[in-house]
Amino acid sequence: MLICYLGVLISSSNSLPLSTNKRWIVDEATGKRVKLVCAHWVGDLSPMVVEGLDKSPLNDIVHQFHDKGFNCVRLSYSTYLFTRYANQTVAETLSGLDLPEATKAAIAKHNPWVLNTTHLEAYEAVVDALDKNGVMVTIDNHVSLPDWCCGNDDGNGFFGDRHIDPQEWLRGLSFVATYFKEKPHVVAVDLRNELTNARQSKHDWYEYMRKGARTIHEANPKVLVIVVIATVPTPFYAI
Ligand SMILES: *[C@@H]1O[C@H](CO)[C@@H](O)[C@H](O)[C@H]1NC(C)=O
Ligand SMILES: *[C@@H]1O[C@H](CO)[C@@H](O)[C@H](O)[C@H]1NC(C)=O
Repeated sequence: MLICYLGVLISSSNSLPLSTNKRWIVDEATGKRVKLVCAHWVGDLSPMVVEGLDKSPLNDIVHQFHDKGFNCVRLSYSTYLFTRYANQTVAETLSGLDLPEATKAAIAKHNPWVLNTTHLEAYEAVVDALDKNGVMVTIDNHVSLPDWCCGNDDGNGFFGDRHIDPQEWLRGLSFVATYFKEKPHVVAVDLRNELTNARQSKHDWYEYMRKGARTIHEANPKVLVIVVIATVPTPFYAI
């Protein structure tokens, strides 16, 4: 599990939703500052389910976030999970992957429930487990094709690449912003993880980030929109 700090301190008594006040994230009801301490939980790779399900039952993993001092999880997904594979079962996906049989058996042992669920149901079950345990969630669009990125030729690096059709990306953002709207602990939606490769352009980045933010807020005006700034090789600026 890749751990990434987005803040430094826990505020456990905040109500939700959150809002912003100048540079601060605040509790909308009280105006008090809320610091997000997010662990990054990978769900955007080819199995299209969160990592660790071959090691422990879902709820045991979820309890570890509290124990380790996190009040938030940045839960990554690939656009295609929702725009193309939402109704495919996890078992179908796993059977098409070159995974060791022992890994599949370990998933079946620790999390038998996940195999016959669809990808949409499996992602929602993770959100619900976090929600029930009071862990805030930011729904993180990490890639489009569920795979590693972002080289010059993997098609997953920047707008216009083989796997980053802006319209499909916006459809994905709109879907998650709508679908998870009623989950109180879903406090934020990320626009996209760092978009980087040789074809990156500030102009296009700026245009699409604005479209993405509008799309999310049209679907759910209450949710925070997180902009991730890629710093390599060219610094970008926040909107
Ligand atoms: C999944 O099924 C629902 C209900 O039939 C449908 O509306 C939706 O478009 C399907 N999603 C995908 C990605 O195929
Ligand atoms: C999943 O579905 C398959 C086929 O429908 C069935 O044989 C299997 O027992 C189911 N597994 C679980 C864990 O429910």
